[in-house]
Amino acid sequence: MCGIVAYVGRGTARNILIEGLKRLEYRGYDSSGIAILNSAPYLAKAVGKVSQLEERVRRDAPEGWAGIAHTRWATHGKPTEANAHPHTDCSGQVFVVHNGIIENYQRLKKALAASGHVFHSDTDTEVLAHLVEACYKGDLEAAVLKALQDVQGTYGLAVIHAKHQDEIVVARRGSPIVLGIGPEYSLAASDASALSQHTDQVVFLEDNEVARLEPSRFMIKTLDNRHVSREAQTLEAGSEAADKGSYPHFMLKEIFEQPEAVENALRGRLNHSEGVAKLGGLESVMDRLKAARHLIIVSCGTSYYAGLYARYVFETLTDLTVETELASEFRYRKLNIRDNTVVLAISQSGETADTLAALREAKRKGALVLGLVNVVGSTIARETHAGVYSHAGSEIGVASTKSFASQLTILVLIALLLGRSRDLSYEEGENLLRGLEEAPAQIREVLGQSERILELAQQYCSASHFLYIGRKYQYPIALEGALKLKEISYIHAEGYAAGEMKHGPIALIDRSFPTVALAPEDSSYEKIISNIQEIRAREGPVIAVTTRGADRLRSMVDCVIEIPRNHSIIMPLISVVPLQLFAYHCAVLRGCDVDKPRNLAKSVTVE
Ligand code: G6P
Repeated sequence: MCGIVAYVGRGTARNILIEGLKRLEYRGYDSSGIAILNSAPYLAKAVGKVSQLEERVRRDAPEGWAGIAHTRWATHGKPTEANAHPHTDCSGQVFVVHNGIIENYQRLKKALAASGHVFHSDTDTEVLAHLVEACYKGDLEAAVLKALQDVQGTYGLAVIHAKHQDEIVVARRGSPIVLGIGPEYSLAASDASALSQHTDQVVFLEDNEVARLEPSRFMIKTLDNRHVSREAQTLEAGSEAADKGSYPHFMLKEIFEQPEAVENALRGRLNHSEGVAKLGGLESVMDRLKAARHLIIVSCGTSYYAGLYARYVFETLTDLTVETELASEFRYRKLNIRDNTVVLAISQSGETADTLAALREAKRKGALVLGLVNVVGSTIARETHAGVYSHAGSEIGVASTKSFASQLTILVLIALLLGRSRDLSYEEGENLLRGLEEAPAQIREVLGQSERILELAQQYCSASHFLYIGRKYQYPIALEGALKLKEISYIHAEGYAAGEMKHGPIALIDRSFPTVALAPEDSSYEKIISNIQEIRAREGPVIAVTTRGADRLRSMVDCVIEIPRNHSIIMPLISVVPLQLFAYHCAVLRGCDVDKPRNLAKSVTVE
């Protein structure tokens, strides 16, 4: 959600912090701020993008020895300068940046105010600065440890003090903090991508741990003051933040990277001689997977739609009963987890708070918990019993695209692995493997239609509402297409199961309400043609995404986007691409900030 970066070292804090913030900006971007320790502490904040802050900081900030910086996604209080982090105490010596939510902040604030502390913001974070001030007796780490004893809620935080120019204290409960250790400096951040250009030596803090960082040294303690010894580990190559290259936006670059994302998801994972997938990350739990009867998939956002798709795929290829559940709802249900229940958490970031909470709940109840995660070393990846990495590379655009392609690919591989250990035939397994191998070239072919999809966007981007419909494997793609359009272009869009349309949404259809129909020639083709006819009968414009050669549809609809033919299970990998491009072009034409859509954040670390 919000991004944190902290540095202590040899007098170069300013530039490192600003560069770090820019790399983290995709996590939250409504305001930002920086505090630097120098002869006198320096504090600057700005509403809007990091570039606003950068301008001011480059003009008048000292380089400094130690500093902390933050890019914010507002939870408590509007995105104003007063609410931007870092927050400071009454003495102006303590500075705090924080991700997460302090749940008992109102009670703490009241008690602190009663003892004379004066507050200047609406945030929960500001109480932390005053609490540290109240607990400070000359030792910053001890003050933070003591202050956190009173805090309920979640945090990833970094604290500096004007009297401790060689020190940063960081802490974690529920919101990630990673330390980076260099030869003459130490860093900390909420995300390894802010550190990777400086060092590949990192240490992941666990929940309820506090660390003191000095140049090139770190010491970790638990909240109950026990020393923790942990070696630094080498960050995997590829965790570095991407740059846009020649593309105008990260989102477009990532849409165009999908053929490689699928190739990377497949690399070394296909066993043609046995018509099955090889997934090393699941080998240790294969016996339990063979005995599994019940699969529950938990996730949020686009990853949830990947989970909905997986339900159809697992039901087709295995004999498991499958449920897909929004992570935010799953944890509050009365769960019937039996010995043979497997819970699969899907997450690009591996940090989504609801998904993490859901998997912890499932673990507590005894389920085998698996992860399908993109970010290596993320919390979900570390807390699951076993799992598979997507290897999609870093995804910066807030609207997820290439991770979705990898997720769909790997979900087919997992279903294939389980299916072949049950009654799925070699032939069917092999058909799917071949279909998956054809997908990258077919995605490239669709990407070649970007200009034509731009023309469609020019024709339709002034509409205020869109309906997206699909059936079976294409139903989650209809949901994902609608999500893409609404999140980046702010056009209202609803995804619907095509068969459900006549139970309500059809009432909205008229000449000004276009429908995007996912209609490849598969077993649902005739049914979706009937749904399209129903829309046409109400004069609703229809854009159909269909397989090449499906000529019958052409005369019925306003526009056709043709895609290559593949196995019906693999078709969603291809059919989602024109929807991503359509949303992208509509957003650009409407002047929206595609990579940083309003009110959203890439990684949602609050529940
Ligand atoms: C946010 C992002 C979405 C993403 C969702 C789940 O809402 O903006 O793009 O799909 O979180 O994130 P995860 O990292 O768990 O896949």
